[in-house]
Amino acid sequence: MNNLDRAPTTDPALEALWMPFTHNRLFKKQPRLVVQADGMYYTTVDGRRVLDGLSGLWCSNAGHRHPKIVEAVKRQLDVLDYAPPFQTGHDRAFELATALTTTVGRGFDHVFFANSGSEAVDTALKIALAYHRARGEASRFRLLGRAKGYHGVGFGGISVGGMVANRKAFASALLPGVDHLPHTHDLAHMAYSRGQPTWGAHLADELERLVQLHDASTIAALIIEPMQGSAGVIVPPLGYLERIRELCAHHGILLIFDEVITGFGRMGSLFSADRFGVVPDLIAFAKGVTSGVVPLGGVLVKTAIYDAFMTGPEHLVEFFHGYTYSGHPLACAAGVAALEVYQQEGLFERARALEPVLADAIHSLRGEPHVIDTRNLGLAAAVEFEPRAGAASLRAMEIFHHCFDHGAMVRYTGDIIAIGPALIISETQIAQLIDLVRTAIRATP
Ligand SMILES: Cc1ncc(COP(=O)(O)O)c(C=O)c1O
Repeated sequence: MNNLDRAPTTDPALEALWMPFTHNRLFKKQPRLVVQADGMYYTTVDGRRVLDGLSGLWCSNAGHRHPKIVEAVKRQLDVLDYAPPFQTGHDRAFELATALTTTVGRGFDHVFFANSGSEAVDTALKIALAYHRARGEASRFRLLGRAKGYHGVGFGGISVGGMVANRKAFASALLPGVDHLPHTHDLAHMAYSRGQPTWGAHLADELERLVQLHDASTIAALIIEPMQGSAGVIVPPLGYLERIRELCAHHGILLIFDEVITGFGRMGSLFSADRFGVVPDLIAFAKGVTSGVVPLGGVLVKTAIYDAFMTGPEHLVEFFHGYTYSGHPLACAAGVAALEVYQQEGLFERARALEPVLADAIHSLRGEPHVIDTRNLGLAAAVEFEPRAGAASLRAMEIFHHCFDHGAMVRYTGDIIAIGPALIISETQIAQLIDLVRTAIRATP
């Protein structure tokens, strides 16, 4: 049966909600509805258990409804529901800020809270622009990103992002002066890489070309995802991030790591600095900071950057930016508890130990029908397919549907299936997940 014709009618109860990043009409004909989540599993509306192979949407890193995080949020609700973050403070926001900065270390002594990855990214871009202005270098107005980059859906994020569909739809409203590095995804040179590909470090030198084109004195910052997640787990070549770091430092360009996906254990460490030994100037984070329990995002900032703002009369606002829900009490309570859970349960170390297990499992799909690449890093992995003639992305979509119908949640993007389980996944569950993907691949023409 053709997947697209599976159900002819739409349930009227689903009509009101305009779903984000979703093919609304098709979804409402063939809905996938969940009603509960526990640990590694969702329960569907018809009572089936579905193994969550994507940590929700790369966010539920400690598994679903972790009792300590749930309890912390409930306790917070009994005490303080909300306090304005402008000109007023509450203890939970300061507590999480201190917990984060002391855990991260490396000179990231300050954190600015937002509510999502998109807001974190736009905040980081604004900090970069305002920092140069504060230092008398307002000529640095250009922001650089990368092809295939995903930095959320704010106008800043889509401008520096490299997802063609986003850029095309809003082409007239993109920020001026933005340029992009090429992506590093080249199957001719790196197909079936286990961990970081050995080919591609030279692509970092494209930054030198952009500097020669625009002059460093016009460039404020470069934002990159250390591993590109939304584009389908594009793993940085060995030496690439190191070279990017070197060039940014040399030219006075701030390096922003968008760690919305790579943070909080996905790479087997708190942030990429610990995994790759490359330390950016700003870190945008979200998702795993609360294990997805309450929305929260933010930007970790090096001392020198924060200090550049702290000049002028003390009664004046130093940075004209912030959100009504910056550092919401419930989000901060969830964040403090999630950090404790990650540390007390050794979940980052666990992710590191499971990395070779997931690697073996994903690479065992090599040779299955239509597979043209398998790749992995940390607790992230992907399998890429030959697009069906004249119907790009349909094959991966059908595999995704098959997986869900048979008990596994994965993600598809283009003709790629991405996997990023919670750090609590067991070796048996990894095997089950990949077996379900294998069965789906074999069942899909
Ligand atoms: C790297 C990266 N940055 C930013 C975002 C946007 O985050 P949000 O959807 O919370 O706005 C995402 C979302 O997947 C992401 O992967």
